[in-house]
Amino acid sequence: MLGAKVIARAKLNLFLDVGKKRPDGYHELRSIMQSLELADELYFRRTDGSTGRIVVKCNEERVPHGEENLVYKAVETFYRKTKVSEEGGIEVFINKRIPVGAGLAGGSADAAAAILAMNHIFELGLTTAALLDIASGVGSDVPFCLVGGTAVVTGRGEKVESLEPLPCYHVVLASSGLEVSTAEVYRRFDSLLDEELPSSKEIERKFDSLLDGVKIRDIGGISANLHNSLEFATLQKDLVEEYKKVAKFAGAIAASMTGSGPCVFAIVSGLEEAAEVAWELEKTAPLIIVTSFSERGAQVST
Ligand code: C5P
Repeated sequence: MLGAKVIARAKLNLFLDVGKKRPDGYHELRSIMQSLELADELYFRRTDGSTGRIVVKCNEERVPHGEENLVYKAVETFYRKTKVSEEGGIEVFINKRIPVGAGLAGGSADAAAAILAMNHIFELGLTTAALLDIASGVGSDVPFCLVGGTAVVTGRGEKVESLEPLPCYHVVLASSGLEVSTAEVYRRFDSLLDEELPSSKEIERKFDSLLDGVKIRDIGGISANLHNSLEFATLQKDLVEEYKKVAKFAGAIAASMTGSGPCVFAIVSGLEEAAEVAWELEKTAPLIIVTSFSERGAQVST
């Protein structure tokens, strides 16, 4: 194949419990992740290599173009792990729609899309297990972004256990638009004292109740048990609290921060409620997106 277009879906964390720091510097996680219809589009094409071995461009200036882009790392990792011939080059254009540095895994979604694109372009037909192995070498959220839907995610993020996907509930995203460094939020989390966090028993109870809610598709049970340990360490705690309060006041069933933030998501019962919540949040949050849950992760578009 000469090229591919791939849809890279964002994710949110219905639940994110962060454990102790491991010897490799990463934290042990337990999360329930959910894909969103909100997505970037990536356009790949093979070249003769005259423009470069891997060339990444994006319509959003805050996204790095070169080796720091996760798409670049994904293509490199793909070459290394599959030993596919590196003759010629790969050009990638990212049409970015997922807010950058917001906790929606935009970079990881693009990397997952790159792995799918490479498999498609080189017609390797790799198994999901092989693709996941490549994904886990690129970044913590990349394996989930590859599989998508609704899943329990553990380890550093590489263990993905898919659940029956949830219906396509509408969500309103609200963010300050400021980029947050994930590593910095984790560093702040490490400096929190035990008494600044909910008890592990309380977190355990929430996880079990949320998982039950997901399994029986009970939106009330899901909404009542949203949790994100990193909310306690975010640099924009006041804003996050404000957006959550406004969303709930405007009729959202529940609201929580996603990933390392600062984006807040509000689950609503229908389109009318989405409009009402978006209307109210717009008065305080510079960035608002209305989207919905998706049953899929990265997807080659035909
Ligand atoms: O894997 P990824 O590059 O997405 O992680 C970004 C940063 O987030 C890491 O450098 C690390 O500081 C932090 N992180 C962590 N534990 C995880 C995932 C991410 O400490 N399980």
